[in-house]
Amino acid sequence: MTKVLYISTECYPAAKAGGMGDVVGALPKYLNKQSVNASVIIPKYKTAWIESKSWQKVHDSKMECGELIIKFKIKKLKKSDLGFPLYTVDIPDYFDRPSIYLAADGHGYPDEAERNILFQRAILDWILESKEAFELLHCHDHMTGLIPFMLQQCRKYKKIANTPVFFTIHNGQYQGSLDWELRNYLPKYKLEHEGLLEWDGRLNSLAAAIKCAWQVNTVSPAYMQELKKEFGSLTALVNHESRKCTGILNGIDHEVWDPKNDNHIDFNLDDSLNTFKQKNKSSLAGKYGLFKTKMLVSFIGRLAYEKGADIIPEAINIVMSKTKDICFILLGSGDPTVGDQLKLADHKYKKNVSSIIAYDEALAHQIYASSDFLMMPSRFEPCGLNQMYAMRYGTIPIARYTGGLKDTVPDFTVGGNGISFDHTTPGELANAILRAKSIFDQKKELYKLRYKISALDFSWDHAASNYAHQYNLLINN
Ligand code: GLC
Repeated sequence: MTKVLYISTECYPAAKAGGMGDVVGALPKYLNKQSVNASVIIPKYKTAWIESKSWQKVHDSKMECGELIIKFKIKKLKKSDLGFPLYTVDIPDYFDRPSIYLAADGHGYPDEAERNILFQRAILDWILESKEAFELLHCHDHMTGLIPFMLQQCRKYKKIANTPVFFTIHNGQYQGSLDWELRNYLPKYKLEHEGLLEWDGRLNSLAAAIKCAWQVNTVSPAYMQELKKEFGSLTALVNHESRKCTGILNGIDHEVWDPKNDNHIDFNLDDSLNTFKQKNKSSLAGKYGLFKTKMLVSFIGRLAYEKGADIIPEAINIVMSKTKDICFILLGSGDPTVGDQLKLADHKYKKNVSSIIAYDEALAHQIYASSDFLMMPSRFEPCGLNQMYAMRYGTIPIARYTGGLKDTVPDFTVGGNGISFDHTTPGELANAILRAKSIFDQKKELYKLRYKISALDFSWDHAASNYAHQYNLLINN
């Protein structure tokens, strides 16, 4: 059994802000059904889930950081029923906050860089002293991107420097680009190797990871292809390191996302998918004051530039000018300006549009179960999980042709799984919605596509065996 440690700042259900949390909360469970023995470590935040659990201290130490002495503890979840052991790094003052990334004013914490570095150092210090003997470390996104550098270059970690590091890019837009002064937070390393940390004159955590990790992957093959063509100044670096760069499509947790046994939805799936959809839609539409039988199109996601939610209100205007036979339900939180625009659409088209500005996991499940179509007008999408959740619940994706959406939602006219469009513009999205309406109106087509996508297998089993294989190659190299 290969002993692997997942190092991440999110893990569902302990702490989740986006899709990375879902991945880290599921993939280790599926790996553990194969030849891998995977554990996960995250910061000990003050989330409700973490607070409600009992933790056992397994390590108690301190680290010197410039002038500062930082005390930390590693704590293990007692009686884990997650399918893997979960550890947390407890650094009081830095992590005992209820929100993962955002301060009360909606912006990132001002000490984000310091806390990421302390988190990574604490883990390496612990691994150095613990008897756990992890054979491979699997790091996720820039917040853990300095680990491969520190492991190889800091004398302190010499004893464990040969441990392979696998690095996954969930979102290349965030790179952890830091002021040079922050290098004082790292343990001593040889100055002649400092170039490994540098990109565009700054300390760039993602670039350092791409240079120093043994293997780098994105969460879909198409997204890796895109980074090789257009990744700002990092394009050259990805191409230079291309022999160790791959793309592995994410999966979804079929136990959490199971329409037959989902506690969050009003009606579970038994025999008929169409009855399941119709009953749930009627119930949800009733709760939110929408027409109960008209075609229902939804959006679920962060109100962030990359997700393209800002074009939805104008797309709705265009659609409403042509037909009132379509309803929309929109769920998300983030950019307050976009939130206001969605609310405006809700006021304007009373029984046709409902906007819920919130993060609500349970409601998301009910929306997947109820919608006929799900919109994903993403400007970029490294993988995207929502389209896979949607399909499992018989909801047809209307997705922009980018990243993981290219891999999972080819257009129905070429035998694909949904409606695909090229650009994130209100006009193209509106057209795609009207194409969806023509499917909706031909019930035979609708039911055929619904049944087809709900039977697709996006479970983690494929990706898990792919990862397990890659880990073995690195370890036995
Ligand atoms: C990030 C990406 C998303 C991906 C998820 C899980 O949130 O934006 O596309 O599905 O990570 O890997």
